[in-house]
Amino acid sequence: MTDLETPQAGDDGAQDLDVVALLIRQHGDIRNLFDEVESSTGDERRDAFRRLVRLLAVHETAEEEIVHPFARRAMPGGAQVVEDRLAEERAAKETLAALDDLDTGDPKFMPQLMKLRKDVQEHARAEERYEFTHIRRSTDVTNLAAMAKAVKAAEAMAPTRPHPGVESTTANMALGPVAALVDRTRDAVRNAMGKNG
Ligand SMILES: [Fe+2]
Ligand SMILES: [Fe+2]
Repeated sequence: MTDLETPQAGDDGAQDLDVVALLIRQHGDIRNLFDEVESSTGDERRDAFRRLVRLLAVHETAEEEIVHPFARRAMPGGAQVVEDRLAEERAAKETLAALDDLDTGDPKFMPQLMKLRKDVQEHARAEERYEFTHIRRSTDVTNLAAMAKAVKAAEAMAPTRPHPGVESTTANMALGPVAALVDRTRDAVRNAMGKNG
């Protein structure tokens, strides 16, 4: 059994019903993918990095469409908390764009990756501490489940645990640039929330 197949903490049906459990699990998946990029080389690193970029793009898009707007409305002081998180997400996206222009074998790649990792981790910690815990208190199980369903629809755009090997590389290439992926994710989320059409 490889690390990628190891069950994650909280890896059970609860995630289908609770958007917070689901997003926290994705934070763990993102951490694991950073580990994978760091510990691999060559094509393996390239493949792991493409999966990391995809999951980050899908995860942040889902948060921007689903939980940040909810937190802004429903949490006391939510507007400021969400402003802070959006600023962190913008900074991370800039680092990600710079990184995405580099080949994974470029000597500048690892220092930029470490910067991105630090930014992303601090951001995830702030979300969990200042936003997610309050989301659970600010709503009911029906709404937590509805938001989870929309995040699941987004997640389908970025499988984090593919079978290792050529097929995952091919699937990654076929998905195209990050901006297009963000657009498709946004559509999938809005459909799941009944906001399209
Ligand atoms: Fe985020
Ligand atoms: Fe997040």
